[in-house]
Amino acid sequence: METPQCASTVHPILVIPGDGIGPEIMDATLRVLRFLEGLCGRFKLSFEIHEAGASSYLRTGKAMPDEAADAFERCKVALKGPVGLPCVRTRERTEAGLLGGILRVGFDLYANVRPIRHIPGVPSPLGEKGDLIDYVIVRENTEGLYLSRGKGLRTEQAAVDNLLLTRRGCERISRFAFQLASKKREGAPEDGNRRVTLVEKSNVLVSFAFFKDIFLQVAGEFPNVAHECMYVDAAASALVTNPEHFQVIVTENMFGDILSDLGGATVGGLGFCPSANIGEGHAYFEPIHGSAPHIAGKDLANPTGLILSASMMLDYLGEREAAKLLEKGVSKAWSKGKIKVEKGGIVPGGARLVAEAVMEALEEVAKGELTTCGS
Ligand code: IPM
Ligand code: MN
Repeated sequence: METPQCASTVHPILVIPGDGIGPEIMDATLRVLRFLEGLCGRFKLSFEIHEAGASSYLRTGKAMPDEAADAFERCKVALKGPVGLPCVRTRERTEAGLLGGILRVGFDLYANVRPIRHIPGVPSPLGEKGDLIDYVIVRENTEGLYLSRGKGLRTEQAAVDNLLLTRRGCERISRFAFQLASKKREGAPEDGNRRVTLVEKSNVLVSFAFFKDIFLQVAGEFPNVAHECMYVDAAASALVTNPEHFQVIVTENMFGDILSDLGGATVGGLGFCPSANIGEGHAYFEPIHGSAPHIAGKDLANPTGLILSASMMLDYLGEREAAKLLEKGVSKAWSKGKIKVEKGGIVPGGARLVAEAVMEALEEVAKGELTTCGS
C-alpha cells in the first residue's frame, strides 16, 4: 500500500509499559499502532518509553522517576499500561507502585472518562441484554475520597480518610459530563435520549448533597440534555438490570472506580475497557484493569483495553478517522471468533494473538475507508 504524499503530523507520546502484564500488552498495542500509522500514512507517533510503577519503585525508590515526569510534562500525552504489584507496599501498607497521585492529582487530570461498551463477539454475563450496553462513566479524578490518598491517619485503634468535594471540582466535572453527552452521537440505547446521571449518596452524606446542588445548577446550562440523580446503591443495581438506560454517568472518585469495574464485568470483563485521564493541557490513556502478575509472561493477557485506550488517545490528538478505524478493527477482530476470552479474563494466545487478529481486521476495514483516513 502506498503512503499518501502529504505532510504528516508528529505526535510525541510518553509510553509507560507498567508492571505485570503491562509490557506484553504494551508491545502488542505499539505494534498495532505502527501498523495503523502505516495504513493511514498521515501521522507519526513518536514514542518515548520510560519505566514507572512498582518495578521502578523497587529499583530506584520512586514510582515515577523524574525523567518520566519530565517526559510527560513535555509530550503532554501518555499511553500507560497497568502499574503496581500487590507485594510492593508503603510503610502504611498501601501500594507503593501506583501513579494516580502523581499523574492524576499532580497534573490536575480531573476527568477520568471510562466508556463501557459491548463489543460484538464478546459474551456478557447479562446475556442478550449485554448487547445494548453503551455508556460512559465520567469519574471525578482529583478529589473525593481518594484525595486522602497517602494522607489518611492510622493509630493502633482507629484509622480515618477524608472525602472532600469542592465547588470548582463538582462544577467542572459536571460540565465535562454534559459537554460529552451533547457531543456523543448516540443517546442512551433505551430511548436515544441524551442523558447525564449523577450518581451520589445525598440521602446520607452532606458532601453529596453539595455535589447534587451544583450538578443541578450546571444542568440548567444544557437544556438539550436530560439529567437525573441516582443513589449509588440503586445505580449499582440498575447497571445490571437496566444498563441500556444510561448514556453518561458522572460521579465521585471512589464511586466511579467501583462502578467502572462493575460496568466492565457486564461487557465481558475489565480487559475490554479503556479509559482517558484528561485535564486542561495533559492527558493519559490506560486500560482500567490491574497488572495481573499471576498471568504475566504466559501469553494469556488481553490487550484490548489498552488498544482501545490508544484509540481514545488518537481521538484526543485529533486523529479521529484513525481512532474510529482502530475501534472498528477491534470490534471486527472479536466478532470473527478467532480469539476467545475465558474464565478469569484470560485469552489463550494472549496479547500477541489479539494484536495479529486486530491487524488483520484493520486491513479489511481499511480497504473501504482508506481514502478518508486522517483527512
Ligand atoms: C483504577 C485503579 C486505580 C484507582 C488504583 C490502581 C489506584 O483501580 O484506575 O481504577 O483506584 O484509581
Ligand atoms: Mn479501579
